[in-house]
Amino acid sequence: TVPLFLDCDTGVDDALALTYLLDVPHVDLVGIGTVSGNIDSATAAVNTTALLGMCGRTVPVAVGAHDPLGGAYGGGAPHVHGVNGVGGVDLPAGVAAAEDPAAELLVRLARDHADTARKLDVLAIGPLTNLAVALDLEPRLPELVGTLTIMGGAVWDAGNVSPTAEANIHNDAEAARRVLRAGFDLVLVPLDVTRQHRFDDADAERFTAAGDPLRVALGTMLSRYIDFYETVDHVRRAPLHDPLAAAIAAGEVEPTVRPTPLDVVVGGAEHGRTAPVADGPSVRVVVTADERAADVIRDRILAVAPNPAVRA
Ligand code: BDR
Ligand code: CA
Repeated sequence: TVPLFLDCDTGVDDALALTYLLDVPHVDLVGIGTVSGNIDSATAAVNTTALLGMCGRTVPVAVGAHDPLGGAYGGGAPHVHGVNGVGGVDLPAGVAAAEDPAAELLVRLARDHADTARKLDVLAIGPLTNLAVALDLEPRLPELVGTLTIMGGAVWDAGNVSPTAEANIHNDAEAARRVLRAGFDLVLVPLDVTRQHRFDDADAERFTAAGDPLRVALGTMLSRYIDFYETVDHVRRAPLHDPLAAAIAAGEVEPTVRPTPLDVVVGGAEHGRTAPVADGPSVRVVVTADERAADVIRDRILAVAPNPAVRA
């Protein structure tokens, strides 16, 4: 099994990514950190523990940074993810979050697994604030962990919060720059590839038709997420940003990567741009992924066992 730490800003596509991961037999989700992005970090933890409860699973969830490095949380993306982060869907309360802050939980788990047969892998699907804080706490973090997979950036393609920047990187560009320069074995899953893999109304209907509270909630929030993407992309198909990164991190979807030296623009009109540079540390940028990605992700979301104790 692969021990995995998930850092997220739950978030509709984060919710789909988490549910997908819970069904992958060889992934052992050992800890989850939350960060402000789509929603504030405390609400992201409420959403995350709710989803875990709906699947009858207990994983330590640690609330992470509320504010980005050197700035203040900008209020999230209610027009994309709803005012509660999960499309306005009411989820039943889960268990309380862990006592440790997210960065401390990450460092502890990285140390615990460093000398075992399989190091901790990390999947970051929100802004990179917690990872930057963890690097301050433990500068050897890049050696202690296995692969760090990040959903973020727009390398050759356009951004989604500005012409050049993607939301996760834009929301804490300073943290992203530090993480990209820190020497991790790093796979970047940018908008360039996540826009190629989408869920549509038929997927939302299949979740809702499953009838259990978990799938009905996911189907409803997906449908609202598709409503947003219709306004920007003019098609009723929503990109699988975080679920695709999860499926790549889990090793279930084969990516094609292009090693590219990248840096993050901090400040100015191109704030948050992940820009190819002439030299510098190379990042494995995912440019395409197996065309069956959406099928793999949908089938696992449909298969994950719901908690029978949670009723509609
Ligand atoms: C990324 O930003 C968030 O809105 C999504 O959850 C995803 O992680 C896409 O730019
Ligand atoms: Ca996210």
